[in-house]
Amino acid sequence: MNKNIVVAIDGYSSCGKSTLAKALAKKLHFIYIDSGAMYRAVTLYFLRNQTDLNNHDLIIDALEHIDLNFHSRDYQSHILLNGEEVSEEIRQMPVSDNVSKIASIKEVRQAMVKQQQKMGKTKNMVMDGRDIGTVVFPDAQVKLFMTADPKIRAERRFKELSEKGEEVSLEEIFENIARRDYIDTTREESPLVRAKDAIILDNTNLSEEEQLAFAMEQLTPFLDKI
Ligand code: CDP
Repeated sequence: MNKNIVVAIDGYSSCGKSTLAKALAKKLHFIYIDSGAMYRAVTLYFLRNQTDLNNHDLIIDALEHIDLNFHSRDYQSHILLNGEEVSEEIRQMPVSDNVSKIASIKEVRQAMVKQQQKMGKTKNMVMDGRDIGTVVFPDAQVKLFMTADPKIRAERRFKELSEKGEEVSLEEIFENIARRDYIDTTREESPLVRAKDAIILDNTNLSEEEQLAFAMEQLTPFLDKI
């Protein structure tokens, strides 16, 4: 029996990982999992419950009360936090401002990685995040490491949030992205780093179609196994 295929997409904040991951999943009929949404949903839970982030016992206890589930509609990934759809709320600034701090907590990462590995055991899937090619699926057949000019990244996220009616400034987004990149790359627990065998994809000057074509080329050797 053929082993299932995993495409691991890692990279900096807001550089279009999920746009590419969704497009790939749609084209290949793979499952798409947005691992960042899981860290964001945990952050939302902690914010709502005002969990004391310095108390590790409380964190471990809280994690036991968090049930995360995905349901997929048109290859858009929707996340349920204890049964409640929170896909919109987790993209808003209060969560963005706190998620990297929470994602640096060892116990949180261990709980998320365990769930992610379970999801990728048997199904063909595309998963994006920060540690997918290094920690979650070190044996993924295809690994991409995405980056883009920070100014362009901030402009893209600004457009996305403005279109949803969120009142946020370009500067605020630029600072949030820079701060998250800093925390994500310097944390002790599985920092954002390119896996040795990950292919770099800088999409600063690429259209969505061009980056999809690039990713499909990397996948070509595996497509006859599907
Ligand atoms: O979409 P965007 O690039 O803004 O971020 P995201 O993928 O939603 O991830 C939000 C945050 O979750 C990141 O800044 C990381 O702090 C954390 N994260 C992580 O630590 N590990 C992952 N596999 C995915 C996300």
